[in-house]
Parts: sequence; structure tokens; C-alpha cells
Amino acid sequence: MTKSQTSIEIRNLYKIFGAHPEAHVEAVRRGMSKEELGARHSHILGLNDINISMPAGKIQVIMGLSGSGKSTLIRHINRLIEPTWGEIVIGGQNVLEMSETELRDFRRTGTAMVFQKFALLPHRTVIDNVTFGLEVRGVDAAAARATGLRWIERVGLKGFENRYPNELSGGMQQRVGLARALSNDTSILLMDEAYSALDPLIRTDMQTMLLDLQKELGKTIVFITHDLDEALRLGDQIVILRDGSIVQQGNSQDILLNPADDYIQRFIKDVNRGRYIRVASVIEPASESALPQVPAEMMLEDAVKVLSDAAASAANVIDAAGRIIGAVTLRTIMSVL
Ligand SMILES: Nc1ncnc2c1ncn2[C@@H]1O[C@H](COP(=O)(O)OP(=O)(O)O)[C@@H](O)[C@H]1O
Ligand SMILES: [Mg+2]
Repeated sequence: MTKSQTSIEIRNLYKIFGAHPEAHVEAVRRGMSKEELGARHSHILGLNDINISMPAGKIQVIMGLSGSGKSTLIRHINRLIEPTWGEIVIGGQNVLEMSETELRDFRRTGTAMVFQKFALLPHRTVIDNVTFGLEVRGVDAAAARATGLRWIERVGLKGFENRYPNELSGGMQQRVGLARALSNDTSILLMDEAYSALDPLIRTDMQTMLLDLQKELGKTIVFITHDLDEALRLGDQIVILRDGSIVQQGNSQDILLNPADDYIQRFIKDVNRGRYIRVASVIEPASESALPQVPAEMMLEDAVKVLSDAAASAANVIDAAGRIIGAVTLRTIMSVL
């Protein structure tokens, strides 16, 4: 269904907003802060030496507070923003070297965006919103409709294809936005705070749907959020931005178990660790054989249940093939939680 998977490499990326951005790259490179650049030169440091290898077919989360540079970063990927310095290499091709035609083609057929504010056309029905991109690309109307209906069904909106956006709840409108993006059959999906405006329960449903879809589709998804739980749940890789710089990047286990600094520590302080830390991250050498078993991928929260149901203080950890690869103890789990 999807084209070949595409990696995204961001190298030494700087973005400075202002009248003469290039004039200040060197100073920023030598360590001038966002605050100083603003105070002394009235320029805004949007991104500061960003290096990320986003793996093909995975979900890359970009997390950070408002103003940390998330939108600026994601908009460099399809070159809606020109970098002040640096490279963006997508599937081996440098986006900055694309001709105008190549760039237009890449934006239309290589990437799709999902926005927080849905960006649906109010006077078009659900199906007409979903097929809009296909129409622009000149896809035959019947084929576009068939594709659109398939994705409308897949996001759980079968029967709503002839409704108008204002007849739908926020969660349903976000589903339309997702169906529209998926209809374009791109290998890259860019989601800028797509779920940030949704109520918590609907938001969790949308996350589950995205994870389910991703199992089938294996797209390269760049997902922006300011919500740590969302980042930990969705991200195969997570980058945390602050004032335009990367403070830490890694997977959920790296961030929860080895926070890079006090800033990250404060970020993760209140999270339910048992929900996101895996047994594999706290494994110890194997002990006796007569213990209950837990898979290495299991979250600690669930492992605690297994242990308490078995009235055991330790369990053997098994890999995907069912081999015992170590053990976990209740004591270690409790100390990590
Ligand atoms: N077009 C622009 N002109 C000037 N400053 C901008 C522009 N776009 C973004 N910024 C500034 O760059 C920084 C990062 O913004 P943004 O990427 O929108 O953050 P986020 O998406 O994380 O909230 C902020 O300080 C913002 O004010
Ligand atoms: Mg933003």
C-alpha cells in the first residue's frame, strides 16, 4: 500500500529569524544563546544545531514546550521554511538541492501533513475533503472516491462521508484530517500537534488508532507534541527541544531512566513510569527456573500484576522466542518506580 520507506536526516540545522540571519550563524555556533541573540541583535534563534536521524518507517516524536522550535523544525522537512544553515536529506536526496518542480512533486506525493486545527474545507463534505489532494494531483474521480472511502472506513467514519465538517465532533474532524493525509499514500506523515486540541479520552483513542495503522503502514511519521505521555506512548524515537536546541534524544527508556539534565528530570517527574518502562530495561541475571514468566517487552506496571497474582517476588524474563534471558525482582521494579 505504501511506497518504500524513507529516512529523514537533519544535519547541523540552524534557523535564525530576522533581517540578517546569516550574519549571526557564526556567533550562535560559538555559543550565543537565544536570549542574547534577541537582546543584542533583535534576531530570534529558532533552531540551534539540530542533528537527527529519523529512521525510515518509525515514529519520531519531537517534544518541547511552546516556542521551543517544534513547528519550525517540522516545516523544514518539506521546506516550507528555508534553513539559515544546514542540510535536510530525505531518502538520500537533499531537499535543498531540489528544483522547484521536484520540490512541488515531493510536497504533494512524498509528504502529507495533519494539523491541530484540522484545516478542513467547510463547504466540502467529508469525502470531498478527503479526496481533495487526489483531485489536485489529477487522480481520476472514481479512483479518488474509492481510495477516499477506503480510508474513511479505516479511520472509523464509515457512513459519515456525506456530512459536512461542522456536523462532526473535534475527534471526528481529526479523523477526517488523518484520512485525507493517508489517502495521499505518502511515505512520510508530518503531524504538528495533531492531537493537542482533543479531549484526553478521544486523544488516547486517536493514539491507539495511529499505532494500529502504523503496524500496517510503516510510514515515517514525525509527530509533534508538548505532552510527555503522548511522546512516550507513540515515539520509537523522541527528541526533546528547548529554546531551539536539542536537550536529549533517545527512546522512551533512555529518557525515563537516564534523563540528560534537570530540565528533563522536571519534565518526567510526574509521569507514571510503570506504564512506559519495559521489563527489558531493568533485567538482571536469571535465577531459579520455577518462577512466573514475563516478556521482555512488557511494561513494569503489567509485570507487577503478574508478580502479585503469582504471589512471587521475582519473575523470569523471556524473549520473543520464549527463551529465558534474565529475571526481574519486585524490589528492583519498586526502586525504579
Ligand atoms: N516567522 C517567524 N518570525 C519570527 N520568529 C518566529 C517565526 N516563526 C517562529 N518564530 C519563533 O521561533 C521560535 C520557535 O517557534 P515555533 O517553532 O513555532 O515553536 P513551537 O512550535 O515549539 O511552539 C519561537 O521563539 C517563535 O517566536
Ligand atoms: Mg508549534
